Amino acid sequence: MNAPVRRGTTKLAIVGAGAVGSTLAYAALTRGTARSVALLDVNKQKVEAEVLDLQHGMMFIPPAEITGGDDVEVCRGADVVVVTAGAKQQPGQTRIDLAEATIGLTRRILPELLEVAPDAIYIMVTNPVDIVTYAAQKISGLPNERVFGSGTVLDSSRLRAAIALHCGVAVGNVHAYIAGEHGDSELPLWSSATIGGVPLLDWKGIDGPPLDAEVRDRIAHDVVDSAYRIIAGKGATNYAVGLAATRIIEAVLKDEHRVLTVSSKLENYHGISDVCLSVPSIVDSRGVAGVLEVPLSDEERTRLRASADSMRAVQQRFGL
Ligand code: LAC
Repeated sequence: MNAPVRRGTTKLAIVGAGAVGSTLAYAALTRGTARSVALLDVNKQKVEAEVLDLQHGMMFIPPAEITGGDDVEVCRGADVVVVTAGAKQQPGQTRIDLAEATIGLTRRILPELLEVAPDAIYIMVTNPVDIVTYAAQKISGLPNERVFGSGTVLDSSRLRAAIALHCGVAVGNVHAYIAGEHGDSELPLWSSATIGGVPLLDWKGIDGPPLDAEVRDRIAHDVVDSAYRIIAGKGATNYAVGLAATRIIEAVLKDEHRVLTVSSKLENYHGISDVCLSVPSIVDSRGVAGVLEVPLSDEERTRLRASADSMRAVQQRFGL
């Protein structure tokens, strides 16, 4: 029996109790992101064990109702639904290799979710997230702003961490974005990046090594390569993507109007349309309230358009 979702509380429903979904639940509960957190997974024994393990920590976290099961009913009345369920990226696989399986899964579960959470904001995390987001928008028929993807929020975090570590500054003072596909064609927006208000390309710092083109190229390569390295080492990524998703959820549930590089359908963005990609966007209780036309260098514009072409080719391959 599900406890009723009480008036004035916020409910987060997480679809998929695998490494990402269960870590996201843990991160959201420890941060008090939502008053009610529900986990849904087809594996009844697994999801019930995750819920039980989380419930046993209730004494140490902000007040929360933790529920879950293998019936979509557990998602009833959710304000935000996050979809993490999908095929697991194996060593050597790209995220695009997962497309056929995860588009099929999206087609199966979205209609059921919409029955129990028709007013929710839907955040896709399942990879390939840009393709899954595009599919989810078409399948759901919801307004585009209410269906978006976690996109390159995680990649932008990876980029900022690498810059902060290299330059010896606090990560909170680094403003830099990864745009495009959450995947191999993503690109850093170096031309608009700043550190403490100083344009990154002019960074001299007070100590520490330079941030020259060679270092920037290494950092950009390491960001793109991150997931492959982590998957090869431990089988999946979960902590940072769980925290990234939690930050996105909080921007929605707390109406933060926060700038995040989530994946949404672009319309005439530097000449790019009808494809889901990540660019700096305003995220609030409406979902993706709008995108920011960040100035791009010629190289960045060319690479962003190439990323769009790559996603559009996948969309066409799968009849989206
Ligand atoms: C990663 C997965 C979430 O980049 O795509 O870690």
